[in-house]
Amino acid sequence: MKTRLCETLGIDVPIFAFSHCRDVVAAVSRAGGMGVLGALAFTPEELELELKWIDAHVDGKPYGVDTVMPVKYEGVEQGGMTEATLEAMIPAATKQWVEEVLTRYEVPRLPDGVESFHGLLGWSHAGGRAHVDIALAHPIKLIVNALGPPPPDVIEAAHKQGVKVAALVGTVAQARKQVEAGVDIIVAQGTEAGGHTGEIGSMVLVPDVVDAVKPVPVLAAGGIGSGRQVAAAIALGADGAWTGSIWLAVKESDTHPLVIEKMLKATSSDTVRSRCISGKPARQLKTAWTEAWDGKGSPGTLPMPLQFMVTAEAQTRITRYADAPGSRARELIGTPVGQIVGRMTTVKSAAEVIHGMIDEYIDTVDKMQGLLGK
Ligand SMILES: Cc1cc2nc3c(=O)[nH]c(=O)nc-3n(C[C@H](O)[C@H](O)[C@H](O)COP(=O)(O)O)c2cc1C
Repeated sequence: MKTRLCETLGIDVPIFAFSHCRDVVAAVSRAGGMGVLGALAFTPEELELELKWIDAHVDGKPYGVDTVMPVKYEGVEQGGMTEATLEAMIPAATKQWVEEVLTRYEVPRLPDGVESFHGLLGWSHAGGRAHVDIALAHPIKLIVNALGPPPPDVIEAAHKQGVKVAALVGTVAQARKQVEAGVDIIVAQGTEAGGHTGEIGSMVLVPDVVDAVKPVPVLAAGGIGSGRQVAAAIALGADGAWTGSIWLAVKESDTHPLVIEKMLKATSSDTVRSRCISGKPARQLKTAWTEAWDGKGSPGTLPMPLQFMVTAEAQTRITRYADAPGSRARELIGTPVGQIVGRMTTVKSAAEVIHGMIDEYIDTVDKMQGLLGK
C-alpha cells in the first residue's frame, strides 16, 4: 500500500484519520497511519495543551493538524467582525425558536457558572490563524485547511518548516484553485462524507480531481472505512485515503456514549446534509434537531458563523442533559457523520481498525491480481 505520500510524510500506510480526539490521533499515527487533529473546537490555549499531549504520546510518529479558515463567512469583507457585532445580527425570532425547541424537548437551562461552547470558535480567519501559529510551533508534518484555500502566508510559513499543506475540496474547480494557491495535497471529499460536504459522490469526484491536478497527490475522502474502500481509492488514482467518521466509534474516541449508541444502530440512510450546525451544508446523523431545523416552522438557518453562534448554547445543553431523566434531549443529540455510519456496527481500537483495513486491502488486491491471471 506504499504510495509516494508514505515517503513524503514518513508514514507506513497512506491512511489519514481526521479526529477531534487526541487519543485517536496519537493511536492512528502510532499504528502507522497519519492522525490529524481537528483544531476547530479548541481555544488556542486548549489546542496548545492537546498538541503537547500528542507530542508526548505519539512515539515520534508523524501527525497533522486541521484548521478551518473559511473563505466566505458573514463579516469577511470587513476583515472579520467583532463577536458583539455578529451577535447583534442574530434575529431575535431565531433565538426564541431555538428556546422553544429546547423547551419542547425538556432540555434544562445551564446552571449558573457553567459556560457554553464558545460561539465563534475557529469559524473565522482570526480563529483559524491562531490555530495555525500554535500548530506550527509543534513538530507536525501536515497542516490541513477546510472551506477554501489557506492564505498565502500560511502556506509559506508551513513550507519554510518543511510542513506539507493539504486542503479539502468537493469539486474540480475548488481543487484547481487550491493548487494555484500552492497547496501540496488535495483531499477530494465526496458527498458521502461526514461534516461539510458538497454534492458530488466520491466515485465521480476522485478520478476527476486526480486528472485535473496531476501530478499533485490526491487523497480520496468520503465513505472510506474498510480495506476494500481504501483499495477503491487507490484504483481511482488517489495516493491514499482520508477518513473521519469511522474514528468516532473507536475505543479511544471521546464521543458521547448516546451518540455511539445511535451510530451503531444507524444505517447508511440515517444521515442528512443540513445547514443547522454551521450555516453551510454538513452531513450528520438525522435527529429530532436536524428535523426541527429543516422542517415546517423552522425560521431557516443563518449564514456562517451566526448559525453556530445561535446554537452553541443549545448544543451545550443538549450534550449536558442527553441522558438526564425527564429530559428528551437524547432525541436531539447527534454528530456530523457520513454514510459509512451504516457499517459502524462494533467498537474496536484505532489500531484494530487500521490493521483490519490493511488486511482487507491486501486480500482485495490479491483477488484482483488473481482475476488478471485468468
Ligand atoms: C465529526 C466530524 C467532524 C468533522 N469536522 C471537520 C473539520 O473540523 N475540519 C475538516 O477539515 N473536516 C472535518 N470533517 C470531515 C473530515 O475531515 C473528513 O473529510 C470526512 O469525515 C471524510 O469522510 P467520512 O466521514 O466518510 O470518513 C469532519 C468529519 C466528521 C465526521
